[in-house]
Amino acid sequence: MCGIIGYTGHRPALPIVLEGLEHLEYRGYDSAGVGYVLNKELTVVRTKGKLKNLRDAVSTTGSALTVTCAIGHTRWATHGIPEERNAHPHVCADKSLAIVHNGIIENYLEIKEELLAAGYSFYSDTDTEVLVNLIHFLRAKENDLLGAFSKALARANGTYAVCLIDVSNPGTLYAARKSAPLILGRGVGESFIASDVPAFLAYTREVVFLEDGEILVAEPEKHTIYRIADGCTVKRSSQLIQWGMQAAQKGGYRHFMLKEIFEQPRVLKDCLTGRINAQGNIVLPELENVAPPNRIHIIACGTSYHAGLWGQHLLEDLAQIPVSVEIASEFRYKERFLPDKNDLVLVISQSGETADTLAALERAKKEKIATLGLCNVVGSSLAREADTVIYTQAGPEISVASTKAMTSQMLMLCTLALFFARKKGLIDKRQRTLAKTLSSLAVLLEAQLPNMHRRAQSLARKYAEARSFFYLGRGHCFPLALEGALKLKELSYIHAEGYAAGEMKHGPIALIDSAFPTFVLAMNDSLYPKIRSNVVEIQSREGHIIALTNPETDIDVDDRWEIPRIIDPLQAFLILPCLQLFSYEMADFLGKDVDQPRNLAKSVTVE
Ligand code: AGP
Repeated sequence: MCGIIGYTGHRPALPIVLEGLEHLEYRGYDSAGVGYVLNKELTVVRTKGKLKNLRDAVSTTGSALTVTCAIGHTRWATHGIPEERNAHPHVCADKSLAIVHNGIIENYLEIKEELLAAGYSFYSDTDTEVLVNLIHFLRAKENDLLGAFSKALARANGTYAVCLIDVSNPGTLYAARKSAPLILGRGVGESFIASDVPAFLAYTREVVFLEDGEILVAEPEKHTIYRIADGCTVKRSSQLIQWGMQAAQKGGYRHFMLKEIFEQPRVLKDCLTGRINAQGNIVLPELENVAPPNRIHIIACGTSYHAGLWGQHLLEDLAQIPVSVEIASEFRYKERFLPDKNDLVLVISQSGETADTLAALERAKKEKIATLGLCNVVGSSLAREADTVIYTQAGPEISVASTKAMTSQMLMLCTLALFFARKKGLIDKRQRTLAKTLSSLAVLLEAQLPNMHRRAQSLARKYAEARSFFYLGRGHCFPLALEGALKLKELSYIHAEGYAAGEMKHGPIALIDSAFPTFVLAMNDSLYPKIRSNVVEIQSREGHIIALTNPETDIDVDDRWEIPRIIDPLQAFLILPCLQLFSYEMADFLGKDVDQPRNLAKSVTVE
């Protein structure tokens, strides 16, 4: 949530900062701003709305071209409505400091009271303006910016990533983080600080990950990391990012989301590379020394939570391990968590920065339970905190709506189930067939995607006027129904609910009439007769139905959408792209902002 960029180097900084913000806009897009020092004066330009407004307002010519150090921010509002006065950067009382911030300072009201009493005034509703004035206040006492910055951060409760500039030292960036991402990019004679790598990937792939409790001071030629606790410097080597700029661009597709849906065959291939040996066994070197746990507690949010629910079926069925799946924001505050010492906590997160998921991970670690992270972003907080990490290797996912990341999570959950099954000596013929089928999924999906896309387009046009939708499934299709509903509501703002089909008659069916359509996942599996009966119950109440099904079924509905039958539960890898494409087409047809839906942000770093 919120995107931060800072640049100091030998090039004009403003075009670089604006370009960086474009790559960070997925993190928040209700207002944006830049700050820099020109002629010994701090200049801040902020605009409400999308980045385009900021681009129109910022001059990148004339004297602005001589600016070689600047900070920028794209906002997802937490404190204060999206207005220019609440946009970042925020400046302190005498306009000597400007700061950009991602996160929440929980005790800002208490600090604000103290600063008001000391004579400070505030012009925004934000916690950020309080923080920059606190730094100013502490610096006035000691005339030491680094010391004041450290003390202010030690005082701030909550989560943050911040980047600060000082009018008296215009080529230097000061930054820190606590449970929110912040990365240093090292170029030749230039330094970048950003919330995410794509912001500076066009200039350098060399990165240094900042840790909680540290302050980074970045100059063009060098950088220094200090530990807040004792002021000592920290040595940290840099790492090379393995993917390039192309992966973070649309590549000819209308939207990132469409590109990412169509990337799924490649993702399936990449995720499996090196994971199946010549004997057809799953190889997970990350877990070779980990015994199969007695129980697994899966914890995640949103789409990652749905992947976890789907994985529960596989882990219980194939590896015979009891699994609970919990929403991270619920798990972190539950009164009692009573794990066994041989349990495993499995946290799933595309970004690896979701605040609730990280808090859940912290709680599990406090209980001294083994933790495994399933994560897409190398160097993310989750990847660093979990005892063991398996990377999902989906590549950068830019669209706010998660698509290929879920496919990669499901694939890794499937390999995990087969891996533990082998360790427990449970591999049988069915499991061998599953492992073999995994390898053929990519080719199968690639061949199906164009047809799926066409069918999604025609159905979206027919159903675009619906104001509500049910998504129904049973067994391993139930989590997919939840995900289908989530995708539809977040992209097209149409009310949608995912239900276990058998639950309909316990209440929700009361809503059904001819204006309330249902999207049913009716695969030709052992539960097919059950779901067909549920469909008839809906039809008896004049409900219209889209049924995603296999050619072999006899389900008679308004719209049959056929996909090839493959072994359960791998059928999910063909179902999920259909659900994604349907939501995508609905949203696009209705003229919605597909990649940046209203009120959302990609990385939810606040609770
Ligand atoms: C889904 O399309 C959303 N982007 C959202 O539900 C997301 O899955 C959730 O916020 C969790 O994110 P994470 O996987 O990065 O932790």
